[in-house]
Amino acid sequence: MMAATMSANVFFWIIPGQRKVIAQMRAGVAVDPAHGRRAKRRSVHNTYFTLPVLAAMLSNHYAFLHGATGNWIVLVVMMAAGALIRTSFVARHRALVLGRRVPWEYAAAGCVLLVGLGVWLKPAPAGAITGAPAPVPATFAQVQGIVKERCSLCHNAQVANMGVRLDAPDQILAHAPQMVQQAVVLKAMPLNNATQITDAERDVLRRWYEAGAHPD
Ligand code: HEC
Repeated sequence: MMAATMSANVFFWIIPGQRKVIAQMRAGVAVDPAHGRRAKRRSVHNTYFTLPVLAAMLSNHYAFLHGATGNWIVLVVMMAAGALIRTSFVARHRALVLGRRVPWEYAAAGCVLLVGLGVWLKPAPAGAITGAPAPVPATFAQVQGIVKERCSLCHNAQVANMGVRLDAPDQILAHAPQMVQQAVVLKAMPLNNATQITDAERDVLRRWYEAGAHPD
């Protein structure tokens, strides 16, 4: 939505405004300052949207952002941080021209917000995922069956997304912590749940892992 708003600002206000101004100049009539003012306002909106839009687009790769409880608060805090940091950069240009001090305090406040967000989203320490260890551990055979059905499609010798292969027992064992992180804690995998893993199957992965991720 934010990226669409930015594009709309350019296509429906900034460029048409410029065309009108150029037409007025060509015709030798007085230029209506409203177009310039309007374009400036939209351009200011876009300036402050830039960093939040980038963060929102890339957050796709970071499940701790979009999968967080209260993910909308995460986005709002990132937008505020992005706007604050941008404020310093916008002011920097003017300050340099006028030979004044650059107001870095806005950027500092934005960075503090980002660090605060990081602390808030910090994952639970390993072992504290669910509290007490599961009473019934799952078997490696069960895990292999689930991985074959739900993961190997996108993680094999031909297609190894992010270099992760899960098409052989030793590969599964080697990636056990990342697998649990992605498929149980973040629920980011299977991607878009394309292979329709069930909650019961995620739980099998968790129980196997918590019992020590043994190959038996
Ligand atoms: C539809 C395709 C698809 C399926 C099915 C799938 N993955 Fe992935 N996997 C991906 C893609 C794409 C990435 C790279 C993600 C990125 O760039 O953010 C990835 C990345 C990963 C990573 C590395 C993540 C990191 O940040 O280090 C792990 C671990 C992983 N997948 C585990 C699994 C497990 C476990 C399953 C099954 C429960 C699974 N994947 C099923 C497509 C898939």
